[in-house]
Parts: sequence; structure tokens; C-alpha cells
Amino acid sequence: MDATIFGEIMITIIETKLPKIKTALPGPKGKQVIAHDAKYMSPSLTRDYPLVAERASGAIVEDADGNTFLDFAAGIAVCSTGHCHPRVVEAIQKQAAELIHIAGTDFYHRHMPEFAEKLVSTMPKTHNWKVFFGNSGTEAVEGAIKLARYHTKRDKLIAFYGCFHGRTLGSLSLTASKNTQRKYFGTLLGGVEHIPYPYAYRCALGHTKETCGDEIIELLEQQIFKRLFAPEEVAAIIVEPIQGEGGFIPAPMFFLQELQRICNKHGIMLILDEVQSGMGRTGKWWAYDHAGITPDIVLTAKGIASGMPVAAFIAKDSVMNWKAGSHGTTYGGNPVCLAAASATFDLIAGGLMANAEKVGKHIFSKISEWPKRFKIVGDVRGKGLMIGVEIVRDQRTKEKAADLRDTVVDNAFHRGLLTLGSGENSIRMSPPLIIDEEQADCAVAIMEEAIAETEKGM
Ligand SMILES: Cc1ncc(COP(=O)(O)O)c(C=O)c1O
Repeated sequence: MDATIFGEIMITIIETKLPKIKTALPGPKGKQVIAHDAKYMSPSLTRDYPLVAERASGAIVEDADGNTFLDFAAGIAVCSTGHCHPRVVEAIQKQAAELIHIAGTDFYHRHMPEFAEKLVSTMPKTHNWKVFFGNSGTEAVEGAIKLARYHTKRDKLIAFYGCFHGRTLGSLSLTASKNTQRKYFGTLLGGVEHIPYPYAYRCALGHTKETCGDEIIELLEQQIFKRLFAPEEVAAIIVEPIQGEGGFIPAPMFFLQELQRICNKHGIMLILDEVQSGMGRTGKWWAYDHAGITPDIVLTAKGIASGMPVAAFIAKDSVMNWKAGSHGTTYGGNPVCLAAASATFDLIAGGLMANAEKVGKHIFSKISEWPKRFKIVGDVRGKGLMIGVEIVRDQRTKEKAADLRDTVVDNAFHRGLLTLGSGENSIRMSPPLIIDEEQADCAVAIMEEAIAETEKGM
């Protein structure tokens, strides 16, 4: 570890680029934190393994006992510029000394339009766009539900099985990921219908990653619209272009294009939830960019501000036409958070998005053969640095193996690699967009050992 002056500020740099485990995990100091946490913290939090973070820089996290980990989780795809990027730290510190809060809902400050203009520069040029800032992904989803209902004067909403849009009561009504997330929370928002998401690896009709989903479009048009909701009652279809919590499952391009066609035809708002897949992670600003579509509303959070709480929904200006007082927030668009977001944006635009594409391709060139090399790897999928690995007990039956998945994640942790589970039986790798090929190779090697060890124990 080293302390370096950057601009006027002191930054802690962890010298190593690669992981090093020195103690049993968790170590003695980590154990104390975990015991303390158990006494005071809500037991609803899910921790896959006992990482007790103390400090971090770049793609390396150091725990309370001095072990270092290579971070392929990035705080759930949040630390897009790596941990404590000097430019982000500098922006936060400088802004904190000038103006921390003023409440953008009641007063003006330059950071809101300045950063909104940057976000709008990523949107299709065919329209003008407006932005609303919030603090978390779920808040962006709530705002988008309200905006879609307000604009269309309709109330029905269509979402997908496997999707995750958040945990507050409106967004939870859309979320259809795990029943524990909904259990005992009572009646949720009315007027919500879920339909299947195109999941090529498990496509009942045997379609490929490019063609899976035809039957879902037919279900929507021929069944849902005819038997449940007339399309002119539907306010919005909300979709993740790559399901995140659902298992890092990309929707085929044609499927997103078909959703756009249907939405255009019936005046339905197409909402793209890019909270996990956006901000350059897939090699383009938004995962939907790969399909060349133009949504009505786009949601972003997570990777937008390198860990500071910022979310936004971006809508066509013809859609964001609600009256003053219809929606607001106390903290959304806070100057310090937006300073971090602005620095993050510049770093992503200035090379990290290109790096995500390049290093993502490098990783896929190494791991796409895993289903041939490892009997428990059923599927490898994703785009850029949004990489999913599905673990099965048997490649022929595709039996989902949540226990083996957990073992792989745990084995990787004990070798110094942080990943996260996703969906019922998949692993997600979502490193900071700053990683280089040496770190990518290290992560691949650790994963291969972790999978091989899991197979040995079967
Ligand atoms: C696609 C998507 N939407 C919304 C959310 C909710 O975000 P938050 O946890 O910031 O409320 C998440 C969180 O994982 C997500 O992945």
C-alpha cells in the first residue's frame, strides 16, 4: 500500500494488481466485524461469502486482515472506474468543499443540467431527451412507472419472468426473480402481467441465442393482448436487455426490436432497465444500443457514479411532459454525487468503454470453450464485461446446480477472486471496466481452478 498525492488530495494506492491471500478467510479481524454485524444489522442482507472489505483501489479490494482480492463483482457492477479512482475521489472531495446539498427539486444548481446533458449525449439523436435524477435503481424504476402511467393515462404494465427491477413496492411488483424477495409483502401493484424472457440456453423450442423468443412475441400479441389486457390499456413494457439478477441472460437483438415495433404500434412506453447493463459495461453506453432501437425511457444507476448513489431515468422530451409537482426528490441529483458521476462519465467515454469491449472479448476467447472443458459449465454468455456462467449438474439434462455454483463462487473467493451468484445457478463476472488482460487472465485461471476443484468434489 502506498499514499500518493493526486492533484491536492492524498490517495491510497494498493500496489498489487493481483490477489494474495495470507490468512484463513475470514481472518481474525474479519471475524470480529462479522460478529458485530450479526448483532446490529438486518438479517435480510445476503452475503454469499465472508468478505470484510477495509479499503480498495483499482480492481483490488483489501480485507480487514490484509488479504487482497481481485474484484470481479465491483460492488454489483457499480465501481465501473475501479475503486477510488483518483479522478472520482478528487471530484468528490472538491465538490464536498464547495456545495454538498441544496435540493434540486426546489432550487437550481449547475451540476444537474451539466450531467443531464452528458447522459443525453449517449441517447439516439432522433429525439430530444430529458432526465430525472434519483438515488438508487429502484427509485428510477418507480419514477419510470409513474411517468409511463402519467404520460399514457393507462395503468397496465408488462414485465418478464426472471427480471429484477428493485425491492420497493412498485418495482417489486415488476420483479419476478426469487419468491423470497416478494414473500409476505402482501398485495403489490395491480395491473402487472409477467411473460417469459427469451432464455436461449433453456429454450423449449430449441432456438439459438439469436432467434429465441419468437413464441413470446406471439404470446404477447395473440394471448396477452387478446385475452388479458387490450394493448391500448398498457402503459409500458419494461425489459432488461440483459437480465442481471436473473442470470446474465442477453435478449436477442430481434426480440428487443420486436418489442419496439409492438410498443410503437400501440403507443406503449418501452422502458429499458439498464441499471446493471448500462454505462459502458457491454462495450456500448447501453446494452440496447447493440440492437439499434430507440426506447421511450431508459433507466440507469449502479455504474453511473463509481459507487456514489446516483440513478436517473432518461425519457423522450415528448414523454417527460408531467406538470411541476408530479414527481420530486430531496437528494436526487446531489452535487457531490453528480460530481462523481460526471468524472465517471468522462473516464468511461475516455477509454473505459472501449476497454470493456476489448478485455471482454479477450475473456470470452478464453472461456467460451468452458462447456467443452468442464462438465458442470452449461453455458457461457454475455457481452463486454457482463459475463455469465451457468452451472449445471449434468450438461445433457441441464439440471440446475445451485449448490455447485455456490461452491465455485466460494472456491474462487478462497483463491482471491470476488464474483457473485446470479439467477438460480449462474455466476456473474462484472469487473470494473479498468481491468487489463493480465488481471483478466488471472481471473480466468482462478475460475478454472475453482470449477475443477468443484468437479473433483462431486
Ligand atoms: C436491472 C436492475 N434494476 C433495478 C435494480 C435495483 O437497483 P437498486 O438496488 O439500486 O435499487 C437492480 C439491482 O440489482 C437491477 O439489477
